[in-house]
Amino acid sequence: MAGQEVDLLNDAFNTFRDASEKLEQQYALLEQRIEYLNGELAEKNRYMERTRRLAAMGEMAARIAHEIRNPLGSMAIFATLLERELTHEPEKMKLAGHITKGIKTLDNLLSNMLLFASSPAARLKSVDIKEVIEDSVLLVRGREKDNVKIKYSCEGRTAFMADAGLLRQLLLNLLLNALDALDEGGSVTITTAVIDGVMEIVVRDTGMGISPEHLDRIFDPFFSTRERGTGLGLAIVSSVVSAHGGSIEVASNGRGTSFIIRLPISPSNNVC
Ligand SMILES: Nc1ncnc2c1ncn2[C@@H]1O[C@H](COP(=O)(O)OP(=O)(O)O)[C@@H](O)[C@H]1O
Ligand SMILES: [Mg+2]
Repeated sequence: MAGQEVDLLNDAFNTFRDASEKLEQQYALLEQRIEYLNGELAEKNRYMERTRRLAAMGEMAARIAHEIRNPLGSMAIFATLLERELTHEPEKMKLAGHITKGIKTLDNLLSNMLLFASSPAARLKSVDIKEVIEDSVLLVRGREKDNVKIKYSCEGRTAFMADAGLLRQLLLNLLLNALDALDEGGSVTITTAVIDGVMEIVVRDTGMGISPEHLDRIFDPFFSTRERGTGLGLAIVSSVVSAHGGSIEVASNGRGTSFIIRLPISPSNNVC
């Protein structure tokens, strides 16, 4: 073979070797990428499976909550009857009162769970906010520490289009939080007023207040600083406000807390 031909062959061989080295490198890179994508896919599958399981658990929790509701309702009636029977035996009546209180706590927990699981839609009807406040105050009666006062006052118009059931749950959660934060001798005041076509509801307490680092997180589901808290109360409050197309504001200075809720009074401004 002539020297020139050998050189040509060598060149061709070198080009072939370079190309096959590059191909090998690219193949290795592709393999790495496939491995990475496989890992990502497995992670996404795990996430989907977890989401599916959580959704199923949510559904199951809602179904159980419904099932617990009925016997709980009967228990509430019987406990109230028992309390009435025992008016002449104050010590025993106090014990029956504990049963009623426990039932109310469970009922509120169930309502919050059901609302949280279903993200509430507001069914608007003409509602008298004063009546809703009176109902809610009645529901928390007996939970106050000594000398704690619950006051309310409504200025001007009290009727507007809203979902009474949802509003009751909202006020109940705000009242329970306020009562938890209060020391003996404190007070919680609810005021309402119609300002520029908006129903403004303010729930103010003279309790321990909320620290600045917690203020951003109090509406997050499951955020709680209480030992036995569920962290659902304010998440529900916030979703009830959204369901009415309203807004909520909180102000706290370490010597008390105010929640200011603004809801549009005319249905045309409402989302539902
Ligand atoms: N009126 C209030 N005064 C002081 N802290 C409050 C008040 N309302 C809410 N908080 C704080 O916000 C947290 C979340 O409240 P919430 O969602 O109702 O859950 P929970 O009552 O189960 O703790 C409470 O744990 C508490 O730290
Ligand atoms: Mg609460």
